[in-house]
Amino acid sequence: MSSSIADRILALTAELNHYTDRYYQDSVSEISDQDFDKLLAELQALEAQYPALALPNSPTQRVGGAVNKSFETVQHRYPMLSLGNTYSLAELQDFDTRAVKGLGGITPEYVAELKFDGVAISLTYENGHLVRAVTRGDGIHGDDITANARTIRDIPLSLKHGNWPAHFEVRGEVYMPHKIFERLNAERLDIGEAPLANPRNTASGTLKLQDSAEVARRKLRCFCYYLMGEDLPFSTHAESMTALAEWGFPVSDSWRKCKSIEDVNQFIDHWATHKGELPLDIDGIVIKVNSYNQQQELGFTAKNPRWAISYKFEAERSCTQLLDIKYQVGRTGAITPVAVLDPVLLAGTTVKRASIHNANEIQRLDLHEKDFVWVEKGGEIIPKITAVELSRRHEGAQPISYITSCPDCGTELVRPEGEANHYCPNETRCPTQIKGKIEHFIQRKALDIENLGPETIDQLYTKGLVKNVADLYDLTKENLLTLQGFKDKSADNIVAGIQKSKQQEFAKVLFGIGIRYVGATVASKLASHFFTIEAVQAATREQLLAAPEIGDKIADSILAYFNNLDNVQVIERLKAAGLQFAQVVREVVLDGDALLGKSFVVSGVFSHYSRPELEAKIIANGGRLVSSISAKLDYLIAGENMGPAKREKAEKLNVKMISEDEFRAMIGDVS
Ligand code: IVH
Repeated sequence: MSSSIADRILALTAELNHYTDRYYQDSVSEISDQDFDKLLAELQALEAQYPALALPNSPTQRVGGAVNKSFETVQHRYPMLSLGNTYSLAELQDFDTRAVKGLGGITPEYVAELKFDGVAISLTYENGHLVRAVTRGDGIHGDDITANARTIRDIPLSLKHGNWPAHFEVRGEVYMPHKIFERLNAERLDIGEAPLANPRNTASGTLKLQDSAEVARRKLRCFCYYLMGEDLPFSTHAESMTALAEWGFPVSDSWRKCKSIEDVNQFIDHWATHKGELPLDIDGIVIKVNSYNQQQELGFTAKNPRWAISYKFEAERSCTQLLDIKYQVGRTGAITPVAVLDPVLLAGTTVKRASIHNANEIQRLDLHEKDFVWVEKGGEIIPKITAVELSRRHEGAQPISYITSCPDCGTELVRPEGEANHYCPNETRCPTQIKGKIEHFIQRKALDIENLGPETIDQLYTKGLVKNVADLYDLTKENLLTLQGFKDKSADNIVAGIQKSKQQEFAKVLFGIGIRYVGATVASKLASHFFTIEAVQAATREQLLAAPEIGDKIADSILAYFNNLDNVQVIERLKAAGLQFAQVVREVVLDGDALLGKSFVVSGVFSHYSRPELEAKIIANGGRLVSSISAKLDYLIAGENMGPAKREKAEKLNVKMISEDEFRAMIGDVS
């Protein structure tokens, strides 16, 4: 048994690493996220049961889980130096002149690279395995953040075959792609958390999180740009970069060899206009002398290498007039001020609005009415105001005073102690909050009610048909047909979507009801800890605090939610409508390993098992479930009413089709 388990662990590790490599190195998705997670869960379960069989390059390390009590400070084997900065082409020319002089009149070949705006990291590899990841710190000592770095999927845990030395270090930049940053901020806004300032600070904060599972969820990325070690088998930086990429490190293919500083200028020109197309921020260009011998000849100053320099782009900013401040109300009542600007061109786009996060920001900027302000683009799509141009302030201009009542329902705003945000406390009656709560409830991560978009919700609310999420379950087809643009089919679809949502698991319902600060992850932890809504509702502050990941802020928010009778009534109605308010405990008890290594697709209706029972039997006997038919699939278990398209595909790909009874025979179920 244990040798077949070891084989399975080996196979799963190899398969999952293959998909990760394809995704992170070649940008190709060979498997759906769902199937990937299923395989990963299987590997995690096996490793938990047989820890000795876990492999050093197991993808489960990417999932995190280790809690870093505090980070150990360690000394860098090679100090992490920074680069000298230049801001003009003339200064760059001076760098070139100094280099030529230092090399006795020889013009060096350069490598020009992007200067990634993230957090520097040093990765140590021994015998092809990642053994340590350390932050820059003060350049001499840094924090050991290995557990967190392991969750970054494009940092290799073990290297492919290659001529890598037994010991070496790789330097790189950890960053958060714009897309992930925007998604994270949208999620935060959705649960009433203040948005994060920019991708760089977020990447830096994320690397220092205590909980590596949370780091894994944040989906950081990395670009490597420097190889260090003794007796490296290369004579140029360019060779090292090529080798790093071959060994499996994430290396941006944007770097170029430059024969002269003029070539470097062209590289700079190109990226000055194209940097907006990148998935991450860059704040300049790094220029390095290519030859290691020449690098050695040039050496270092006290702080920087003489063979490299960074050319920093001017921050792109424009000055324009502040016309007005609009206050947006979020679904949790959080108020976000947004500056309305005289339209101005910035980095190729016309900017009409800028975010100002909260009242503190207005105070910090000391914004006055009709001020001229400087706007800059960071990693965000919406630019932000960075400063006021005091020289253009109008005489007698009044400071902006923050609103005191909700722009939507007029209720007096509150600002909880210690929080930067103002809130409209009229949680269950403020129209914007109501519509926002319904949108939150139907989203994919919550009740996943398809075909119900913001416009429909707006119509439903305006017509008085839906005033809270429980009203959705009383909607009839006739109600929907009274809405603009609705026909038989669209109305049927929505009714069906609402019905289907009754099967969504408890954690999703708990997330969907929209308790402030309770995101999808927290909801899932609460569901697994308390099992039922009644238990969550009855929990004291102490009991809530004893649950994983629940701190004061979340505990207080849960208590406040259940103290509001309107909320309690909505929950009672949702219960009556048949939604899931209890966690289904699914324990995987291994029956045997008759199906070890075999993949299955289940389709149709069965007579002996229910669909979930059949799926559980596959897992319990060592098989694995996949969602689509491919040539690699071992078995399609065909039930009644299986779609003809599936049958046709299976026949075409020569996939073995078996009946429910044949499956039962395979696992020896004769009951
Ligand atoms: S080379 C000794 N290359 O910029 C040379 N650095 O002040 C080591 N950075 O701390 C750095 N992109 O975090 C290098 N392509 C690149 C870079 C890069 C970003 C960062 C790095 C370093 C800082 C330099």
